[in-house]
Formats: sequence, structure tokens, C-alpha cells
Amino acid sequence: MKISRRRFLAASLAAGSLAFPAPFISADPNPSEKIRVGILGCGVRARDLLGTFSSIPEAEVTAICDPDSARLDEVAGKHNIARKFSDPRELIELNDIDVVVAAVCNHWHCLAAVLAMQAGKDVYVEKPLAHNQWEGAQVVKAARKYDRICQVGMQQRSDPMQAEVKKFLHEEKAIGELLCCRVNHYSVRVSIGKRSTPLEFPETVNKDVWLGPAADEPIYREKLQYDWHWDWNTGNGEMGNWGIHVLDDVRNVVLRDQVALPKRVMAGGARVIYDDAGQTPNMNFVYYDTDVMPVVFGMSNLQANDNPKSAGAHPGPGSGHIVYGEGGRLEGRRGGSVAYDADGNEIRRFKGTGGQAEHMRNFLDAVVAHDRSILNAEAEVGNDSCGWCNVTNIASRIGHPYDKSQTKAVPESVGIWNEVIAGHEELLATYDTTMEELGFKLSPMLEIEDGKFLGEDADQANALLKRTFRSGFEFPEV
Ligand SMILES: NC(=O)c1ccc[n+]([C@@H]2O[C@H](COP(=O)([O-])OP(=O)(O)OC[C@H]3O[C@@H](n4cnc5c(N)ncnc54)[C@H](O)[C@@H]3O)[C@@H](O)[C@H]2O)c1
Repeated sequence: MKISRRRFLAASLAAGSLAFPAPFISADPNPSEKIRVGILGCGVRARDLLGTFSSIPEAEVTAICDPDSARLDEVAGKHNIARKFSDPRELIELNDIDVVVAAVCNHWHCLAAVLAMQAGKDVYVEKPLAHNQWEGAQVVKAARKYDRICQVGMQQRSDPMQAEVKKFLHEEKAIGELLCCRVNHYSVRVSIGKRSTPLEFPETVNKDVWLGPAADEPIYREKLQYDWHWDWNTGNGEMGNWGIHVLDDVRNVVLRDQVALPKRVMAGGARVIYDDAGQTPNMNFVYYDTDVMPVVFGMSNLQANDNPKSAGAHPGPGSGHIVYGEGGRLEGRRGGSVAYDADGNEIRRFKGTGGQAEHMRNFLDAVVAHDRSILNAEAEVGNDSCGWCNVTNIASRIGHPYDKSQTKAVPESVGIWNEVIAGHEELLATYDTTMEELGFKLSPMLEIEDGKFLGEDADQANALLKRTFRSGFEFPEV
């Protein structure tokens, strides 16, 4: 039924009308004539998105869901939303919802997105698209098979600044041929604690729904919410939290989406200094061989000195990238980029918006036009960028005890690789320790072809491309 409304709208658009022709002619009973949005999650991000959707007159949030009734009630009360659910499957089944927004824990992203698309809804799903590679591919398949619009929450893609930066780098070639790219994420995160007894789920949380496809295993951190990011059962670590944003900018602005996945990856990392219940690395160093140019990633969540906000020393932005060209460099980050000539003089400054409002607007435009080709971060793009994070996590998980001589598998000409490692060594020296002492792991140089690892340790790596889904939360056939 909704299709017919969208077909009408698509026809209106093709005829040259504005993005939101009004009034909508709907076959559904839809008195408000607005796009009806159901939001999954009432956490920090969902509240943000609720604010943005509420500010767009053509959209209306009509239902929300969270298995944590305390959060659900608080958000419903504040925004006067009458329809609230603790199970996403109930919201997804509603006939009078056009769009489902999934701002939930990472282990729920893909299942929620696929179920929603099967139910005929368009989907806005938060980054990182997938908790594992297999399920990300299911989302792409579902978007095609059910002909749905699916945007991934990589909002920097909708920042108008990015088009200017791309023109500057690739058309004007203002810093000459591009040679290599260093990606940074340096920010301080504190310990998440380590309990001696498993965490009891708060009484307000429906444990079965919250866990969904994740394994029911004891949790030893102090807090249930948010810190699920640092547990492999539910999260993708800092790679899938901030790493996805900064890598996605590189894929978009520097590599112009020419590299779906790197052809080789080598990753080192560990969770160090804090003796907490987190499993995901709080330091990583990664080399990506892309055929286009070498890309190197340095990530640290450690405090560097007495200042609790000071992360390790690094060139360029704390969260962003530096692309080096023959005639200078460009430093890009969320909301701004600056270019320098070879002598270090500033030659151009770009001011961005961060892209959030534009990203929602872009999504709703695509929903109205029923045209996925206009999406700035369609499921496939989201899946490709997420793939970079997933292969990094897999590589650092299956690594061998760190042996610096093995880092020489990266060509010597890639100076930024040694620079990132030296920075990590320096940071650890302030704690009087070394990567060797702390039990860092380093993967072999892993080859990737057609989405699978080849060669040394490939079996172990490939085994991590898909998770085991808890009974009752298996993926439907797409
Ligand atoms: N694009 C961005 O800039 C951006 C920024 C922040 C967070 N995020 C993403 O948003 C997501 C949520 O992050 P957060 O910081 O709000 O985390 P959070 O832990 O504060 O909130 C997650 C909420 O989802 C709820 N939830 C869990 N399973 C659910 C389900 N099946 N249905 C409905 N609700 C469910 C939890 O109870 C919790 O309230 C994450 O995937 C994160 O990566 C994106």
C-alpha cells in the first residue's frame, strides 16, 4: 500500500516538483500526510536523531521502542509519544509506519534493518552497519530484494564540504598526486571497571530482547548501556565506534569509493593499561594495502600525560586523516579540512557542518522519491566502510604475540607506518612499558579476496566473518 503512495511521489519528483510535494496522496490512512517514523532505541544517539527528525516538518516520530522501560518512558514522556514498545519486532510490524530508525546496540543493527525491510519499511540504521561481515551483506541483499531505501548513519557523507574537498584533491589536484594517507583516532576513554560477580540486568531491561542475537554470557563491566561497545559479543570496539567515521571519510573523500575492501591488511593492537572487563583494543595500528595508496591507521584511547583529555601525540587531527600529496597535505576531520603546501603554509580552509541534518534530509528525500541512487550512504557503501573496521578487528584478534621485526612486512617506503608505531611506543613509554610487555598482538599480512581471507591464518580469520545467532534471533532468509 505504501508503495503506491511512494510511486505517486516518485512520479511527482520526476515531473520536477520539490523534494516534499504536499499534500501526500496516500493509500494508507495517514491523516498527517507526513512520513511516519518509528525509532528503535532510546539511548544517547536515538535522542539525537529524534531531535533531528522532529525538526523536519515532513516527518513525524509516531512510535518508539527500547527494551529498557526506564529509557523508553523518559523519552516517550519528554516527546509526548504515545506508542511505545519494548520489542522492536512489534514496532516493525506496525502498518502505519513508513520508516524505521535503528539507533540500537551494534549487535542488533542488521537484524532490525532486515526485519524492517522485509516488513516493507525504509530504514535508517546507525553506523557501523554490521556487527560482523556476513550480516552486513544480508542488509545489502535485503535492500535489493525488497526494493527498500536503506541509509547508514555515516553523516559526514552528507556534509556539503566533502564535495569541495574532493574537487580540490582530485580535479584541481591542488596538492599534486596523492601518495598515502594516515588516519587518526586519539581520544581518552576511561576504564569500564571489572566486577567480581556478573552484572545483574537492571529490572527495567527486558534481557532477552536487549541481548537479541548476542550470546547470553556473564557481563563483568559496571554499566550495561553504552559500554557494550567494548565487548565483542555486542560491539565493534573503537574501530566500529569512531574508526568507522574516520575510515569512511577516507574511503569517500580520498579514495572516492574505489576501494570496497583493502586487498591486504596487517593490524596490531591490544587492550592495555586498564585492568577492566573490556575486550576490544584501546590501541591499534593498522596498515591497509589498497592498490590506490597505502593507508595507515593509528588509534589510542589512552591518556598521554597528567591532562585527562590528552591522548597520544600525533600529527594532524586527533580524529580524522592526513592525505599526503606530492605538493602538500590535506588534514580532514568532521566539520572542517585544511590544506597546506609543501612548506607547511595553509593554502585552503574548508568549513563543514558535520552533515547530520543534511543526512536525514537526504534519507527522507530518497524515501519520498523511492530512489536509493540519491542516498549519500546507501547500505552497500555502509557495508563497504564497515568492512574495513571488521577486517581490522579480525586481524588484531587473531594476531600473534607482537614481534617488531614482523612489522617490516609493510614496505619501508610507507614511512607513516613506522611513525604510527613510534608514536604508540612513546605513549607506552610514559607508562614505563612496551608493546611486548603488554602482550600486544600483531597479525600476519592478511590477504583479502572476494570478502574472504586467504593464506596464513585465513581459517581463523574467516571464522570471525559471521557470528552465531542466539536461538530465537536468527536471521530470516533473505
Ligand atoms: N552517527 C553517529 O554520529 C553516532 C553517534 C553516536 C552513536 N551512534 C550509534 O548509535 C547506536 C546507539 O548508540 P548510543 O550511544 O545511543 O548507545 P546507548 O547504549 O546509549 O543506547 C542504545 C539503546 O538501544 C537500546 N536497545 C538495545 N536493543 C534494542 C532493540 N532491539 N530495540 C530497541 N532498542 C534497543 C538499549 O536499551 C539502549 O537504550 C550505536 O550503534 C552507535 O554506534 C552513532
